[in-house]
Amino acid sequence: MTAPHAAPPGTDKRWKIVEAAMRRHGYRRDALIEALHSVQETFGYLDDDSLRFVASALRLPLSAVYGVATFYHFFTLKPPGRHTCVVCTGTACHIKGAPELLALLEREYGLKPGETTPGGELSLLTARCVGSCGLAPVVVFDRELAGKLSAEDLRRWLERRLAHDAR
Ligand code: FES
Repeated sequence: MTAPHAAPPGTDKRWKIVEAAMRRHGYRRDALIEALHSVQETFGYLDDDSLRFVASALRLPLSAVYGVATFYHFFTLKPPGRHTCVVCTGTACHIKGAPELLALLEREYGLKPGETTPGGELSLLTARCVGSCGLAPVVVFDRELAGKLSAEDLRRWLERRLAHDAR
């Protein structure tokens, strides 16, 4: 099968993981679910950019891709918060402290994975491996990745970003 013409929506290296998954399946249309799984495991959720990319790489109508993404309950569409925090819970990140980061988010913001703060400021999700294991534990805030974070680092990091937003 020839390579797709579709270019990933950005230079974020997580797209390489998604591309590799589609390549493994020969860019076959019937591997749409696998492709969407790989987006979700890598980014934590599916958004418009990722659905467009998968649709064009697999040469499927966007409507069909949206149809599948919204039909299956195991897919998470972009959460409603103004900001999204994805905590990687892959093996490397788990060993290096992801559980402490999740505990901090629950303590400070009352958030469990999949939830959004009542004011809609922040949504929390998890991903299985964002492809930066050397930086474990890794958190992605919106599209910004931060690694080697202690719970205290994360608390300060989020505080700064959310305060900046409030100005
Ligand atoms: S396990 Fe977290 S980046 Fe790979």
